[in-house]
Amino acid sequence: DKGEFKHYMLKEIYEQPDAVARTIEMGIDKSETAKLRNDFLQRHETQLSGIRHVQVLACGTSYHSGLVAKYWFESLTRIPCSVEVASEFRYRNPVVVDNSLVICISQSGETADTLSALRDIQKHTPAGLVSLALCNVPTSSLVRETDIFLPTLAGPEIGVASTKAFTTQLAALMLLVMKVGVIQQRMTNDYVSTLIGELQLLPGQLHASLNLDTPIKTMSESFEDKRSCLFLGRGLQFPIALEGALKLKEISYIHAEGYAAGELKHGPLALVDKDMPIVVLAPKDSMFDKLKANMQEVHARHGELFVFASESSQMIAEDRLHVVYVPDVCETLAPIVYSVPVQLLSYHVAVMRGTDVDQPRNLAKSVTVE
Ligand code: M6R
Repeated sequence: DKGEFKHYMLKEIYEQPDAVARTIEMGIDKSETAKLRNDFLQRHETQLSGIRHVQVLACGTSYHSGLVAKYWFESLTRIPCSVEVASEFRYRNPVVVDNSLVICISQSGETADTLSALRDIQKHTPAGLVSLALCNVPTSSLVRETDIFLPTLAGPEIGVASTKAFTTQLAALMLLVMKVGVIQQRMTNDYVSTLIGELQLLPGQLHASLNLDTPIKTMSESFEDKRSCLFLGRGLQFPIALEGALKLKEISYIHAEGYAAGELKHGPLALVDKDMPIVVLAPKDSMFDKLKANMQEVHARHGELFVFASESSQMIAEDRLHVVYVPDVCETLAPIVYSVPVQLLSYHVAVMRGTDVDQPRNLAKSVTVE
């Protein structure tokens, strides 16, 4: 039931503060700000304490949450992490090193490529292999075929465009990174409790980012007649740029590409003109000054910038530079909050163009064939 909402996608976007709060509570007690819950993944501590490498396999939006997890695993725990789309991994005779944790991320748990990639690895049984399903459907094939089930508590996702499944995947992945970091003593207790405090702020911050709906809708009017669009981000926002581009192309049928902003001058800058909107994910973080320089490169070439920036960044709108201010959020968790504005932007562009938002042409919710 869509209730008061015009589309399932919009309803699911608005369910994110609750869905993320539920998911976080798997690992953190509401009243406990200092440490992870004792019962979180407790049965699997021995398995998780032996892993030395992480291999993420997924498709589409779920692949993008894996890319964020790579930044988190490597920067917070120093455990090397590789991420690959399952449809490539399964056909290239890849190396899976011993003592790997293979994380299969999937909303449905029935994606054929992800399942086949997992089965291939299991056939070769590298020593110390531990498999984990990060999945929204407890009864799915993926959950049955893996050692560990880490649920996303998003509730049923009906819209083909994945929204709350993505942000709950990110929340659950952060819990997993912390769990591994703690049991392998790779993260300090102080840092873990700081992160827990920040995680508890997330539902409120997601709520505040939903309040940006009106300015984002106004912004979306500039995209209605466009043919192509770039999404830029750096660091943890690069995967969100990829996700924003996927969302826009999937439901509005406008060609869109996500790019790491530092790659602009290696090619895509040639595309920039006054007719191609450029969306920038620009929280005030350690990459902000570098990103500002990238924005200037675009602006100098008459590109029109649509920037999601931190409230505290004091970025001023000017000719061909539009700004929507996103609530301040800690750098590590910012990708979760910045997912919301790109979802809302794609949604409004699609509605304006009159596409079938919940059931875009040529796509299925669950891709059970190769
Ligand atoms: O069910 P899964 O998470 O395995 O699905 C993977 C992709 O098919 C899915 O994320 C797809 O990219 C979405 N429609 C994007 O919004």
